[in-house]
Amino acid sequence: MTRVPVIELENVSRIYPGGVTALRSVSMRIEAGELLAVVGPSGSGKSTMLQMMGTLDRPSSGVVRLLGHDVAELDDRQLSAVRANWIGFVFQQFFLTAHHTAAENVATGLLYGGVSPAQRKERAVAALRRVGLGHRVDHRPAELSGGERQRVAIARALVGRPAIVLADEPTGALDSRSGSGVVELLRELNAEGTTIAVITHDTTLAASLPRQVAILDGAVQRDTAAEPGEVGP
Ligand SMILES: Nc1ncnc2c1ncn2[C@@H]1O[C@H](COP(=O)(O)OP(=O)(O)OP(=O)(O)O)[C@@H](O)[C@H]1O
Ligand SMILES: [Mg+2]
Repeated sequence: MTRVPVIELENVSRIYPGGVTALRSVSMRIEAGELLAVVGPSGSGKSTMLQMMGTLDRPSSGVVRLLGHDVAELDDRQLSAVRANWIGFVFQQFFLTAHHTAAENVATGLLYGGVSPAQRKERAVAALRRVGLGHRVDHRPAELSGGERQRVAIARALVGRPAIVLADEPTGALDSRSGSGVVELLRELNAEGTTIAVITHDTTLAASLPRQVAILDGAVQRDTAAEPGEVGP
């Protein structure tokens, strides 16, 4: 039985106005249930790749498919719906609203889903419990630690039950202990079935995840999923 990949990039290139080629004919696929790292040094094209995967930007050439749908065939309204329903984003800088509580910040992850306010609150609290923050639902970002803020952002990414969570340097703003906690949380969420791609320059973090896609100068240099596993005789 063939499964439809959650995300598929086929010969995707992105040339920015001004002439920088940030991605060169990148092909890769992410299957449901995976936890992988896209790893590479600064400027190698990681965030550009995340923007392609997340339909935040369109490729200069090549095809991006989400759950089998060619992104080029979707209009802006459909793309917004795809982003809202299928993708959860986590960024280094958290992007939480300062005057909202943790629960209110998480509930914004459901604003486009036609979910009633009461339901939003209930699901936000459930998502916060899932990331270990059931005791902090009424705290504002300033009343949370860095690691807790990132957990709130992860809860917001999860609350709409997306097909994939895309996390760009999720530990980049955290000390190593909080960072390890966030990685541990991502592993737990993956064990419960969430598909997660972590974008990072941290080779140690990348090596701790089941699959690594190494990119350099806009091209995939190595993808451990493409390598033959150790098969017995
Ligand atoms: N909007 C843009 N316009 C022009 N060039 C860009 C733009 N965004 C990124 N670039 C260039 O494209 C290349 C890849 O950038 P990208 O942000 O994808 O790298 P990255 O791997 O995420 O780096 P970092 O680890 O520093 O975040 C870089 O050379 C960058 O300068
Ligand atoms: Mg980046």
